[in-house]
Amino acid sequence: MRTVDEGTGMSSSSLPSPSGATLPPLERQSFRDGMAKLAAAVNIITSIGGNGRCGFTASAVCSVTDSPPTLLVCVNKNSQSHAVITTSQVLCVNTMAGPHEEISMAFAGGVKDMNARFAVGEWTTLVTGAPVLKEATVAFDCRVTQVAEVGTHDVVFCEVLAIHEGGSKDGLVYFGRKFHRLG
Ligand SMILES: Cc1cc2nc3c(=O)[nH]c(=O)nc-3n(C[C@H](O)[C@H](O)[C@H](O)COP(=O)(O)O)c2cc1C
Repeated sequence: MRTVDEGTGMSSSSLPSPSGATLPPLERQSFRDGMAKLAAAVNIITSIGGNGRCGFTASAVCSVTDSPPTLLVCVNKNSQSHAVITTSQVLCVNTMAGPHEEISMAFAGGVKDMNARFAVGEWTTLVTGAPVLKEATVAFDCRVTQVAEVGTHDVVFCEVLAIHEGGSKDGLVYFGRKFHRLG
């Protein structure tokens, strides 16, 4: 099993390599540089709680299975949205379209205040009450089914209960630490 020291960012391993030698640690920056080469769709994850709406930009979103329709989302435990999602047990994955670079930066911390983040775009709801961006390429309205803690993040598994398609023909991906339009 590999673990990460949060202070140094170094990973360590209790598993021997095939030769029996201890596996060398990987520095956090090397991992980050590698991940910068992995293109990923840009999404805004939203939720709703006692204090209102919240949301953050995320690329760590993945399909798990279609039976039952399930996604996973990796959520930093220090983010404002973490407690809201784990308490309300609902979230919406809003997948960004080509023109959505500015709103993606706002939800990535460019705008700190949650209400101000929602000032851009037209928002609605489907079945869970989590905010749905009307002009998102696609939005997946979900209920949380499982949470697994891994280092700094929680891997949140969610069942998709409803889908909205915003009609956009192009997408937005993050690659090489920049946004790129697709389509
Ligand atoms: C392209 C991009 C992808 C990101 N992906 C994730 C992600 O998958 N999970 C996550 O927790 N934070 C991710 N972040 C960082 C959060 O958007 C950011 O830390 C968050 O908005 C800050 O937390 P706050 O909402 O408490 O201000 C990403 C940021 C960017 C710009």
